[in-house]
Amino acid sequence: MNGLDIIDADQRGSADHFTEAGQKLKQRIEDGRIVILKNCFAVDSLLALKKAVQHWGQRQAVFPAGRSASVANLNFHRIDGADMPTRLPHTFHQYGFGNLDKLDPGLRSVLYQVAEPMLALQNSVAGTNYQLSDPEVRVKFLHYPSGGGYLANHIHPLLPQRVGLITSLSDWEADYSEGGNIFSTDAGDIHTSPSHQIGDVLLFRYDIPHEIEPIDPHQVLDWNALAGKWSLVLELLSTNALSDAI
Ligand SMILES: [Fe+2]
Repeated sequence: MNGLDIIDADQRGSADHFTEAGQKLKQRIEDGRIVILKNCFAVDSLLALKKAVQHWGQRQAVFPAGRSASVANLNFHRIDGADMPTRLPHTFHQYGFGNLDKLDPGLRSVLYQVAEPMLALQNSVAGTNYQLSDPEVRVKFLHYPSGGGYLANHIHPLLPQRVGLITSLSDWEADYSEGGNIFSTDAGDIHTSPSHQIGDVLLFRYDIPHEIEPIDPHQVLDWNALAGKWSLVLELLSTNALSDAI
């Protein structure tokens, strides 16, 4: 597809490999191409991670709707229904981890195994030097449930992050079959979901407009179900509040 590059990572695992991969991808991303790096992580470990995160949420109080969770060192989850007042309309269940060291060892180690290589890729493409221990950096899971989970079209400031990374924890057709990511690039609108499967990392220049079209809108929304689209992203607290609807 024009504007979309699908590349096999061919290198699961270490942060060093991802640093090298990032150097090769840098120019394409700067030029505004969307890149899907296939098979970055093992499917089994991401399926286990998805269940572990949902299980963690079931044991924690839900963060109050409508209150800002943009606070350093916070681990939280919040259910944002369609009725929540917000600058950027959305429906999703978010799980934010700003303090991995407070988590139990099982969840913490699986999270590190995915988040560290992702951050190495981020740093390599953007020339940044973030660490997971920085209060500014947060690992976030977004669950857009079947039955209408979505996120309105928006942009982020290009700097300082330069690149957005989305690791998929769900499969097109198996977990949802309608809706998903749309990127508005110079080459036209690109629907990436059919090519973005579990274990793949999608990279995009951070100022490219993007949205999540409603996930399986004709189904009944069940916040307790795993069905729908699950994404893992890295975000900076200081730029999270600067994302604008368009
Ligand atoms: Fe975004």
